Amino acid sequence: MDIKKVMVIGAGQMGSGIAQVCAQAGYIVYLNDLKEEFVQKGLGVISKNLSRQVTKGRMTEEEKDKVLSNFIPSTNLQDSENVGIVIEAAVENMEVKSKIFKELDQYAPNHAILASNTSSLPITEIAAATKRPEKVIGMHFMNPVPVMKLVEIIRGLATSDEVYQAVEDMTKSLSKIPVEVNDFPGFVSNRVLMPMINEAIYTLYEGVATKEAIDEVMKLGMNHPMGPLTLADFIGLDTCLYIMETLHEGFGDDKYRPCPLLRKYVKAGWLGKKSGRGFYIYN
Ligand code: NAI
Repeated sequence: MDIKKVMVIGAGQMGSGIAQVCAQAGYIVYLNDLKEEFVQKGLGVISKNLSRQVTKGRMTEEEKDKVLSNFIPSTNLQDSENVGIVIEAAVENMEVKSKIFKELDQYAPNHAILASNTSSLPITEIAAATKRPEKVIGMHFMNPVPVMKLVEIIRGLATSDEVYQAVEDMTKSLSKIPVEVNDFPGFVSNRVLMPMINEAIYTLYEGVATKEAIDEVMKLGMNHPMGPLTLADFIGLDTCLYIMETLHEGFGDDKYRPCPLLRKYVKAGWLGKKSGRGFYIYN
């Protein structure tokens, strides 16, 4: 499988990061979102990131221009007819993802791999929306994508060895480190991380300590680079809630019940850094 062109769906936090590392590795990238303005916003973020690299002397102006010339903006999933792999990074919602994969199945060439950057949703169920479940796989990047080394690669029930191998090879070509996991709710990363974040929100909700104190305890006491409430703001509180709901539904255990305070913040539109306010306020 010789992959040269990629489509990234969703130009938000994750999609723009994934698109950036693909373009930097020399892939032609169709960056897709619902509206042209969302695509342009994502491209703006990428351009700013690259400019920072130029300022730091890690990249020349010419190299930056070369990377930017690898992008093709897209608002039509039919553009997937040109690519060898699609990496979907739209919202964490099964209905939305199933609809996207069903449509991609119609347009993408038969040999194309359909990957999802889902944080927690079953790859096997996403694959069931297509007639090519053997070519559907999870490719779970970490946030912020240009910085974080890990990509969790999730095999659905039907994912073929050939597809797994191609995705592992591509991950390495992006200078990332692949780790193989099986398809269970939250995979490894979010099954371990998200209950900790949810518990931190419960400690705030129950008045055990202030948000600053909770973050400080986990930073200084556990040597975490950032506190769990700050991390939740970075991930996006809507995404955190979707993941907790997936764990709760998937395992049916009360220990995964999303904290009511998390639900309240999401209802208020306090989604974390991306909306300007979550547990903390951002400019
Ligand atoms: P985000 O809210 O920043 O971006 C989502 C983007 O998808 C938005 O630009 C939205 O307009 C677009 N979108 C929604 N529906 C679409 C559709 N039908 N077609 C095309 N574009 C569509 O969300 P974020 O944080 O980038 O998350 C995206 C995915 O990545 C989710 O599945 C999430 O669980 C996963 N993820 C998130 C991480 C995080 O730290 N935020 C880490 C790893 C995975």
